Amino acid sequence: MAALRARTVLLTGSNRGIGLELVKQLLGGPRPPTWIFATCRDPEGPRAQELRDLASRHPNLVLVKLDVANPSAIADAAKIVEGKLNGVGLNLLINNAGIYAQVSLETVDSDEMIRTYKTNAVGPLLMAQAALNMLTKCQALTYGEAGILCVALHPGWVKTDMGTQEADLTVDTSVRGLLSVLPVLSEKHSGNLLNWEGKVIPW
Ligand SMILES: NC(=O)c1ccc[n+]([C@@H]2O[C@H](COP(=O)([O-])OP(=O)(O)OC[C@H]3O[C@@H](n4cnc5c(N)ncnc54)[C@H](OP(=O)(O)O)[C@@H]3O)[C@@H](O)[C@H]2O)c1
Repeated sequence: MAALRARTVLLTGSNRGIGLELVKQLLGGPRPPTWIFATCRDPEGPRAQELRDLASRHPNLVLVKLDVANPSAIADAAKIVEGKLNGVGLNLLINNAGIYAQVSLETVDSDEMIRTYKTNAVGPLLMAQAALNMLTKCQALTYGEAGILCVALHPGWVKTDMGTQEADLTVDTSVRGLLSVLPVLSEKHSGNLLNWEGKVIPW
């Protein structure tokens, strides 16, 4: 399996589920990143205990408070990350945070629709915008003028709070798959949707 070359990584929603497992496997990989910025809504709260335990053992893991549905929180987090990076540049942004409203068309209300749209659609775009300022020159050289390789990855149906214990995949298997797909991505994949095994899913 090819090793992930990213030296500086930022993840959203990293306190539980797939996000937390991504942090664990990135830290435990053959070539751990120099910096992992693990963001979550409440790094001081009970739901981030596992993440705090990891940070106490791994000095390259930095916890940053970030609610992706709050634009000013994104700007605040970007400042903290930029300060820590000190001009080095961000190699990889993983927009993992997301919500899944268990509602039907008959019962969903406009507040729920807006909350989901803000978190799952607007949040990742604002994160990408903030990350633009932190991109590295090396990516720009590899991926042309735009300097960004952007893909959507489907993790499969995964046993997490969102996926429930009925799901097909363990979080370990899904994340192992996702992390083995990342190093083989190239310009030809940009804009594609791929699954956790690297197979292209037609949009
Ligand atoms: N599990 C599956 O089967 C499956 C299938 C397809 C796609 N996915 C996608 O995979 C990603 C991770 O899913 P998961 O299964 O790990 O879900 P999960 O167990 O429900 O965890 C969701 C994570 O997103 C965070 N989050 C939610 N809203 C946020 C916000 N506004 N700002 C920052 N963080 C926020 C949560 O933080 P809090 O603890 O603060 O709530 C939590 O860390 C999601 O984008 C999901 O749509 C999952």
